[in-house]
Amino acid sequence: MPDTAEQAPPLAALRPIDILIVEDSPDALDLLLLALRRAGYAPNHRRVEDAEDMARALREHAWAVVLSDYTLPGYSGLLALRQVREFDPDMPFIIVSGNIGEDVAVAAMKAGAHDYLIKGHYARLGAAIEREVKEAGIRRARRKGERELHEARLRLQALSNRMLQVQETERRHIARELHDEIGQSLTAMKLNLDALQRRLAGHAALPLAVEATDIAEGLLEQVRALSLDLRPPQLDDLGLAAALSWLVKRHGRPEGPAIVLDTPEHPSRLDAQIETACFRVAQEALTNALRHAGAGEIRIDLRQGDGRFELQVRDNGCGFDLAAAQNRALQGGSLGLIGMGERVLLAGGTLHIDARPGAGTAVIASFPSPSPYSGD
Ligand SMILES: Nc1ncnc2c1ncn2[C@@H]1O[C@H](COP(=O)(O)OP(=O)(O)OP(=O)(O)O)[C@@H](O)[C@H]1O
Ligand SMILES: [Mg+2]
Repeated sequence: MPDTAEQAPPLAALRPIDILIVEDSPDALDLLLLALRRAGYAPNHRRVEDAEDMARALREHAWAVVLSDYTLPGYSGLLALRQVREFDPDMPFIIVSGNIGEDVAVAAMKAGAHDYLIKGHYARLGAAIEREVKEAGIRRARRKGERELHEARLRLQALSNRMLQVQETERRHIARELHDEIGQSLTAMKLNLDALQRRLAGHAALPLAVEATDIAEGLLEQVRALSLDLRPPQLDDLGLAAALSWLVKRHGRPEGPAIVLDTPEHPSRLDAQIETACFRVAQEALTNALRHAGAGEIRIDLRQGDGRFELQVRDNGCGFDLAAAQNRALQGGSLGLIGMGERVLLAGGTLHIDARPGAGTAVIASFPSPSPYSGD
C-alpha cells in the first residue's frame, strides 16, 4: 500500500535540501516531491533524464543527494550511478524504483548505491536521506583527512629526501676540503718542519722543532681520519663493497668482536643513492652492534638474487626490544634506527630489523635490483 496519506509538516518547519532526481515521468516526480515534503524537506530539485542532463546538473550545482529511478528510456539508474560516482564518489545516491527484484537491488548497492526504496513506499524516505547525507559528510571528512595526511607525508618525505641529499653533499664537500686543502697544507708544514729539524741538528731549539713535527703529524692523521669518516672516497670512486671493506678495517680492533665482511668478488656499481643508503645503514648498524650489543661476531653480507639486492648486518650480541627502542626513538631519544629506515625507504628499498632480547640483531636492507652484481 503506498503510504501517502500522512499530513505534510507546516511550511516553516521544512528543511531545505538540494535534490537531483533522475526520473522520466512527471507524475512520479510529483509524488516523490510530495513525499519529500511529508518527510519534512523543502526540496530544491532538478529533474534529469539522460546523461547529458546529468553532466550539466552535476557541473552547475552542488547536490546534497541523488534520487534515481532504475529504468528510464535511453538512460538507467546504473548509468546515472556511475556518472555520479565519477563526479563525486561520496555523493549519496538512493534508488527509487518500481519493484526491481532483490538481485538487481543488491547489484545496484554493490555498484555503489547507498539505499533502495520502492516507488510509492516512502515511509523510509526521510530517514534514508538524513542518514545518507550525514554519512556522506563523514566520508568526505575522512577522505579530506586522508588526503591531508597523504600530502603531509609526501611533504615530509620530500623534505627528508632533500635533507639527506644536502647532508651527503656537505659531507663529501667537507671531506674533500679537509683532505685536499687542510691535509695538503699540513703535509707541506710537516715537510718544512722535517727540513728544519735537519738544519737544527745539535741546536738548542731542535726539541721544539721535533715537538712541532709530532703535533703536525698527529693533526694530519686526525684530519685524514675525520675526512674518511665523513665520507670515504671509496664510496664515490670504487663502490659500496670497497667502502664497506674500509669501514670494517676502520672499526676492527684486536680486542673487539670479529667483523666478517662477505661481498661478491667483482661487484658492479649500483645506483648511487642505493650505494650511499647501504653504506650509511652498514655504518649505523655496525656502530650500534659495537656500542650496544656486546657481540662476539658481527657479519656484513651483500647478497644478490631473485631480482633483489640485500645488505645484511648481523650480530650475535644481546639483542633488544625493537618496539620499545622505536618508541623511544620517536620521542626524540635517538636517530639511528629512524635514519636507517628513512634512507632505505627514500632509495626505494625496505628495511627489516630482526631483534629480540638475548637473540642478537639482524638489520636487512633490501632493494629491487635491475642491475645485478657481476662476476660472483
Ligand atoms: N645491535 C644492537 N644490539 C643491541 N641493542 C641495540 C642494537 N642496535 C640498537 N640497539 C638498541 O636500540 C637503541 C636505539 O638505537 P639507535 O641507533 O636508534 O640509537 P643510539 O645508537 O642509542 O643513538 P644514535 O642516535 O647515536 O644512533 C639503542 O640505544 C640500543 O638500546
Ligand atoms: Mg645508533
